[in-house]
Amino acid sequence: MPTRNKLKAVLVGVGPGASTLVTPEAREIISRAEIILGWDMNLLPVRDCVAGKKIFLQDVRNYVQATRAAVREAKRTCKLLAVPRVGDPCLSSGLKGLIRALAGFEVQIHPGISSVQLAAAYACINLDESAIISFHDLGDPEEKKQYMLECFRKGRHLITLASPDLRPGPMAKWLIQQGAPRNTDVLVGSALSLPEQNITRSNLSRLVGREFPWLSVTVVINPGAPSLDEDHQLWRQWRNRKKPNQSRRRK
Ligand SMILES: C[S@@+](CC[C@H](N)C(=O)[O-])C[C@H]1O[C@@H](n2cnc3c(N)ncnc32)[C@H](O)[C@@H]1O
Repeated sequence: MPTRNKLKAVLVGVGPGASTLVTPEAREIISRAEIILGWDMNLLPVRDCVAGKKIFLQDVRNYVQATRAAVREAKRTCKLLAVPRVGDPCLSSGLKGLIRALAGFEVQIHPGISSVQLAAAYACINLDESAIISFHDLGDPEEKKQYMLECFRKGRHLITLASPDLRPGPMAKWLIQQGAPRNTDVLVGSALSLPEQNITRSNLSRLVGREFPWLSVTVVINPGAPSLDEDHQLWRQWRNRKKPNQSRRRK
């Protein structure tokens, strides 16, 4: 029996915007694909690899129809479909919708450098001590705000992706209203890695009333996050609880 060609799609992270932050493998995958689905911004870092391919360009009005058309084309031709996504495809990039639209395809994800990683690097904080909250995706923004507050109260740094629903200024105002210290350090990274990149280092109260572009990531640096000494102390306490006999012998 003839074997049917497998339908394949790759969601490709293309980094935060600069072409120098696209991985060689991402370039190779996109060069190999014959059908491309993406928003203009997703294609910018890989402009050089998409020339001559069948491109389904998404925008605010047509993104569902463009997705369906690209999927139909890939099914009809059995050609590789690449879906470039700015940053990393597993972060606020409509992953669930794409997976649903690509039912019947073998889907691979190629990770990319996220704007969140760049912002954490500029702020010099650990990602694993941070909560990442996107106000860009679907879901209930009010619930996300409550979650953000809980994380802050638990000593987590906050890394938030701006959207028209919540930009850095109104977010800072809301956090202060909920009791966050006004002098909490913040960093806003706008248009990261692009020629117009802007890094603002400030505090919550000075952020209130300021305007930032939608292409911004805000890092709220939590003064309640444990210091290195506290980390050591917490770990020693945990170890002593775990092995009371051993630790007593060592004293
Ligand atoms: C649709 S989400 C995509 C996130 C992306 N998948 C990532 O990993 O960075 C778009 C949001 O990501 C953030 N973003 C993406 N690229 C950025 C950049 N170069 N500079 C600052 N923020 C960026 C902004 O908060 C923007 O509103």
